[in-house]
Amino acid sequence: MNTLLAPQLRDMKPADVDAVLSIEQSVHAHPWTRGNFSDALASGYVCKIYETTPAMLGFVVLMPALDEMHLLDISIAAEHQRQGLGRRLLDEAMQLARGTGMRRMLLEVRPSNLAAIALYRAAGFSEIGRRRGYYPAAAAGREDAIVMECVL
Ligand SMILES: CC(C)(COP(=O)(O)OP(=O)(O)OC[C@H]1O[C@@H](n2cnc3c(N)ncnc32)[C@H](O)[C@@H]1OP(=O)(O)O)[C@@H](O)C(=O)NCCC(=O)NCCS
Repeated sequence: MNTLLAPQLRDMKPADVDAVLSIEQSVHAHPWTRGNFSDALASGYVCKIYETTPAMLGFVVLMPALDEMHLLDISIAAEHQRQGLGRRLLDEAMQLARGTGMRRMLLEVRPSNLAAIALYRAAGFSEIGRRRGYYPAAAAGREDAIVMECVL
């Protein structure tokens, strides 16, 4: 049976952070730290693992704020990318947000992250602003953030 046909979302637990970090560090040029994930869990953010048995395919971290859901991190393991899983995980996250009464989803993304921007646009997000010098970048520089929104 090909279990990759039926990935599931489940709550992230502290014991998952090693595996989450391993994916995070392999797919982001500027990865979150262990502390970032521990803080997200301790703060009660919506942290979900996307997996089949036995593979962790990716994860998503969402921060609820009133009727807005902020997408803080979405990552698919490198070996599972370009198979439609990022889109499916994003759709699941949007469905989850809708189901808890959220009216819109917001996110920040680096202008250089063309894969993520294409994913977000395809899912219905549009640019609503920019934050100048929001992200650290190579050689102690800074990179803007594009702020994107999708009405749920
Ligand atoms: C962004 C990310 C989650 C996409 O996951 P994925 O499983 O590869 O994406 P999908 O296969 O579902 O692709 C969905 C759409 O995204 C876009 N896309 C994904 N990867 C792309 C790439 N390398 N180049 C251009 N477009 C890309 C395409 O529009 C694609 O639709 P298509 O396949 O019909 O062309 C993945 O590349 C990733 O984990 N990147 C590193 C982490 C990151 O940057 N996260 C976002 C900021 S937190």
